[in-house]
Amino acid sequence: MHSQRLLQVAAITALTSSVFANPIPPREPTDNIPRGSPLVTDEILLLDAPAFKSSEGDQWTASIRMFTHLRQIDSKIFSTALTTAIEALGIEIGNKASNVLERTKLFLAIPRSGIEVDLDIVGCESILTGETSKTGLLEQSIGIGACSGSLKQRVISGSAPGFFKDRQFESLLFPSLPTGFGVVSDVDDTIKVSHVLDTKLKLQAALVDDHVAVDGMPELYSKWDGELGNPAWFYLTGSPYQLYPSLRKFIFDEYPQGPMITKNITYTDIPNLFKYIVDEDVDEILGDYKITQLEKLRSFYPQKKFITIGDSTQADPEAYAEIARRYPDFIQCIFIRKVDGADNRFERFLSAFAGVPASKWTVFTEPSELLRLDVANGRCN
Ligand SMILES: *[C@@H]1O[C@H](CO)[C@@H](O)[C@H](O)[C@H]1NC(C)=O
Repeated sequence: MHSQRLLQVAAITALTSSVFANPIPPREPTDNIPRGSPLVTDEILLLDAPAFKSSEGDQWTASIRMFTHLRQIDSKIFSTALTTAIEALGIEIGNKASNVLERTKLFLAIPRSGIEVDLDIVGCESILTGETSKTGLLEQSIGIGACSGSLKQRVISGSAPGFFKDRQFESLLFPSLPTGFGVVSDVDDTIKVSHVLDTKLKLQAALVDDHVAVDGMPELYSKWDGELGNPAWFYLTGSPYQLYPSLRKFIFDEYPQGPMITKNITYTDIPNLFKYIVDEDVDEILGDYKITQLEKLRSFYPQKKFITIGDSTQADPEAYAEIARRYPDFIQCIFIRKVDGADNRFERFLSAFAGVPASKWTVFTEPSELLRLDVANGRCN
């Protein structure tokens, strides 16, 4: 099984390195790409940002994340190479070529480093971010003053005058009070059908097919959204930020809105991209990444109580359990969706959740099993 996967990766690697004729310069962060080049355009990917404040003060802080880059306009060569590589795996693209293009274009973007962006947030103070790093990424917590108005989400618009001309880039700010509930949800195979355990289907779901919600999950989240009194929603995914635009659209269509936390991964080429998507040895790293991100959320909202939900394909049980052991008051309930073909042995869960009270975690098959639980009052099973 494993060697077959390696073979596939090798085949893709060979195939794409010969077909892929490097339509853009090497991914060096650069300041001297000729202006007005017909091949590229400047872009800012602004991610939706959570905002938090301390219980006493009235000053808010936003956790800003963005990616500044150059992007190809003429991506014909790239899409031909990619299409060939995908079809060589026996995956039918059919009439979904636009999905493939949309979901892969950021992988070929050239990072723009050293960019500061002006951010206007409705009802809050305007801010200037720090500079994007060598990889074009920025992650920064910035004070945005005592925002006026309700706690509803509000528009953030970004621009970098002089560099990105007058173009505006938008995302949303999600302010949430120090107390109350939060929900952290995994994405792949928890709320979206992703076939994480099958190489071919996984690639197909990630890059080709329209995203599909896991049956029953939209209803469950909608119920919790009411019962938990408008909790702060966070989508914590192991997917890289390059897939953010398509995942965000899917989540906003199907689930309560909230910021999505994606991974920082930079690729140099298509073979590396595929290798990452089919790589099975990422579980442990993913677990660490999720623990780090949950720690960060806790630093933003130390007094909130969180429901965390994930699935059995990768390291969600282990990561969520670790946080529950570190901060028993921070985690109210943990739910794990059993995915066919994953390690669903009871011993696995017993050992993952060692030291976490049994009343706090539940492994489920059908989301409807969770509908009857009063999670707001700590009934997790
Ligand atoms: C992602 O990259 C940014 C910018 O370099 C960095 O500040 C941030 O810590 C990184 N996040 C993770 C999870 O590695």
